[in-house]
Amino acid sequence: MKKRNSNGDFVKEFVRNRKQLGTPFQSSKYLAKAVAKQVVGYNIVELGAGAGPVTKAILNELKEEAVRLTAFENNPRLLEHLIQIEDSRLTIIGESAENFQDYIQDFDCIVSGLPLTSMPKNVVHSILNASKEAQRYIQYKYFPEGDLLKQYFSSVKSRVVFRNIPPLTIVYICENH
Ligand SMILES: C[S@@+](CC[C@H](N)C(=O)[O-])C[C@H]1O[C@@H](n2cnc3c(N)ncnc32)[C@H](O)[C@@H]1O
Repeated sequence: MKKRNSNGDFVKEFVRNRKQLGTPFQSSKYLAKAVAKQVVGYNIVELGAGAGPVTKAILNELKEEAVRLTAFENNPRLLEHLIQIEDSRLTIIGESAENFQDYIQDFDCIVSGLPLTSMPKNVVHSILNASKEAQRYIQYKYFPEGDLLKQYFSSVKSRVVFRNIPPLTIVYICENH
């Protein structure tokens, strides 16, 4: 069977469901690497993994066997790409990110590509509230509405990544001290 192109599928899924994907283009390898470099700890949760560009970058960046990455993605077509990543440290859950704590309670770092601005406010609240437990919460592909992240984290730092579509994508690094 011919292997489908994940960039093409991402655009098609965006046309079908703009709010769910939030953006027509998946992350470039430069953005994915910039996100992966910010990851801390061993138990990592990824929310909105899509076809897996950031998933792959995290697994490449963190070489240790002890690393556990649990990735959530609820779009079936993108999930088909995600499950092709072969790494024994990776667990993929094809469910909504809003229930992530039903699957994993012990986590060091949360990495989110979720389109927070187009998601229902109660779902965003429940995800960010649960994420406060993490040592670090990393959010990318997010077009901020006011100081949302500052309502949940005492420290919100940002890094700009130029080589992505759109350029000037911001990676937010959030912690509670
Ligand atoms: C901006 S895309 C990021 C995809 C990928 N991480 C990347 O960097 O290219 C947002 C992703 O979040 C997924 N998503 C949206 N709402 C979700 C939810 N409630 N639970 C899990 N995934 C969700 C979408 O299907 C999409 O794959």
